[in-house]
Amino acid sequence: MDKLRITGGRALEGELTVSGAKNAALPIMCASLLSSQPLKLSNVPRLMDVSTMAKLLAQMGVDVSRSEHSLTLTAKDIKDPTASYELVKTMRASVLVLGPLLARCGRAKVSLPGGCAIGQRPVDQHVKGLQAMGATIAIEHGYMHAAAERLRGARVVMDLVTVTGTENLMMAAALAEGTTVIENAAREPEVLDLARCLGAMGAKIHGAGSDVIRIEGVSSLSGASHKVMPDRIETGTYLAAVAAAGGKVRLAGAEPRSLDATLEKLREAGSKISVLDSSIEIEMHERPRAVSVRTAPFPGFATDMQAQFMALATVAEGTALITETIFENRFMHALELQRLGADISIEGNTAVVRGVQRLQGASVMATDLRASAGLVIAALVAEGETVVERIYHLDRGYEAIEKKLGVLGARIERVR
Ligand code: UD1
Repeated sequence: MDKLRITGGRALEGELTVSGAKNAALPIMCASLLSSQPLKLSNVPRLMDVSTMAKLLAQMGVDVSRSEHSLTLTAKDIKDPTASYELVKTMRASVLVLGPLLARCGRAKVSLPGGCAIGQRPVDQHVKGLQAMGATIAIEHGYMHAAAERLRGARVVMDLVTVTGTENLMMAAALAEGTTVIENAAREPEVLDLARCLGAMGAKIHGAGSDVIRIEGVSSLSGASHKVMPDRIETGTYLAAVAAAGGKVRLAGAEPRSLDATLEKLREAGSKISVLDSSIEIEMHERPRAVSVRTAPFPGFATDMQAQFMALATVAEGTALITETIFENRFMHALELQRLGADISIEGNTAVVRGVQRLQGASVMATDLRASAGLVIAALVAEGETVVERIYHLDRGYEAIEKKLGVLGARIERVR
């Protein structure tokens, strides 16, 4: 299993280009199931999760052709509308095929995702929404067996804000008969990017990006070309790395508007940030100040940035309170950060992080994608060598992380 060996203590300097967003690419890839014509995607990140999704779609009969950062998906005939446990268990986002399959084929068999490292993550809201649209969904032997002759538009009030839940319903509703209104919808920029792609395919969607989305169903969708939005979490991760390690870095190809909450917190920590159209420059030459964060659905502070900010807080001046409100078990990186000398105590869903002068390198284990990113940031500031194990988590969501950090001057290598 690959590991990352990082020798900390060097400031980061230079320029990077941000990759396309994983969390936009995955639902958009599933949108290909809604049409028999080709969906041509550009700015697709080269990541394990994208390969897993391509594999899942190919198993169903979707023609997948890939080169560099482009991907063409043609779902001419869907031979088998099934998502097996083998793939779903490795990537929960596989559940995003449920809505499109049901809308296009009238049936779907999708494995229940089960638990995951950061919490329970049920899919009851996806199920509830599709049922409101006339689907019958039975759970048998760990699989959701869904059927509907043709989905009907409905008004769905989500019990809580769910990103993939909103996306699943939006895709299903695009081909339903009549109008669907999703209330308490997720406002994440990736939901909007999916809506833009569906719009290019001929879907009639209004209000995406707000908490009420209205979808007028159409009888068929066409092919389209779409450029995947920049990854705001990757962007935020590199920004947090500079805030912790110091230096000056320009990130090109970013979408600054999707990062307001993160940028505000980085400024509070003492970094100087300039935003220009699609680039963000960060400069940090002092010890960061402690900043408290509380995760919330967009436009609040992203749970996917929580671990990186905990890492930043470990070396900051003062005490930060990190409160996680989205996932119940998303503090596993705290124990690993303690191995590097961090002073963290957990009280319920809040981590109290007292900044220390320095961390010391050690071996640490990545437990999930963003936790791994937090460990990499801590390793960049720790004295001596840190080995981050189980980096397959990182490879799921960060394109060429060791190369990108290497370009910025970090001493980092992949050990195979
Ligand atoms: C997406 C992102 C993930 C991010 C998360 C929160 C993708 C592929 N993944 O995950 O990176 O961390 O949003 O921003 O876009 N819930 C229910 N019932 C449901 C659905 C969700 O109770 O049917 C709960 C979850 O357990 C969680 C909360 O709602 O506590 C939010 O989860 P959700 O927004 O659905 O996360 P994902 O879409 O899985």
